Amino acid sequence: MGAAAPWATRGPTPTGSGAQDDEKLTSYDHITSYNNFYEFGTDKDDPKKNAHTLRPRPWKVRVDGEIAKPGDYDLDDLLSGITMEDRIYRMRCVEAWSMVIPWRGFPLSTLINRFEPTSKAKYVEFRTLYDVEQMPGQRRRVLPWPYVEGLRMDEAMHPLAIFATGLYGRDLPNQNGAPFRLVVPWKYGFKGVKSIVSIRFTEGQPRNTWAVMAPREYGFYANVNPDVDHPRWSQKRERRLPGLFKNRKTQLFNGYADEVGHLYTGMDLRRNF
Ligand code: MTE
Repeated sequence: MGAAAPWATRGPTPTGSGAQDDEKLTSYDHITSYNNFYEFGTDKDDPKKNAHTLRPRPWKVRVDGEIAKPGDYDLDDLLSGITMEDRIYRMRCVEAWSMVIPWRGFPLSTLINRFEPTSKAKYVEFRTLYDVEQMPGQRRRVLPWPYVEGLRMDEAMHPLAIFATGLYGRDLPNQNGAPFRLVVPWKYGFKGVKSIVSIRFTEGQPRNTWAVMAPREYGFYANVNPDVDHPRWSQKRERRLPGLFKNRKTQLFNGYADEVGHLYTGMDLRRNF
């Protein structure tokens, strides 16, 4: 790690507007030991304990749907020639905890443009690996496997939306979604689908896992919004880890409203939650 690395400084400002005071980076330890990755169990410390069975290389990615260049690609071929960037993002989980994470990755648009989407490509859908040997939590039907997420094309092409391959300047640990995963900082954490093996361009809106599981509680958009409560809890405040209490106000679009607000002009965010 060079001295100029952004995480070497104290109290960095997350990329994008809306930064509040004292937004320190969450520690590497917290980021990698407290999260959701149900393919390895449903407790917060299960992913760290159990994700050693995942083999992040070699890694194939199927890219298909409404594009000129479908195919089964080797991840390292897809990544060759791409410049990695370090991006500090505020992250907000739907369960009301939040972190500040220094991701390493690159904009989705860099890859998407290479596949040459057709005019019918209105959405993009992502899928996690489905392999009970590598992901033993998939033996239990706690979710319909594989985990699926999606974005509207204009959301996917927004420069803040990235594929992450690392954090704190190192490769992603398995429990955070190795070898590559989605990061969309203005949406609740469940949009950030991990260990992606399929990218599909579609005309219709993808059926994302949590919206299929509990449609009253989780929608397709999942934009962070303090004014739209979860049916079972308020979203007005959040608990910035490692704090124990909800000590911070949640911001519209997680503080990235200046950058992404225009994507939702004219949309009723209560209906499209
Ligand atoms: N991706 C897969 N494949 N399976 C999961 O269970 N959980 C999601 C998301 N991506 C999940 C997933 C949820 S609910 C959250 S909050 C984030 O991952 C948490 O992980 P992170 O802290 O590494 O972003």
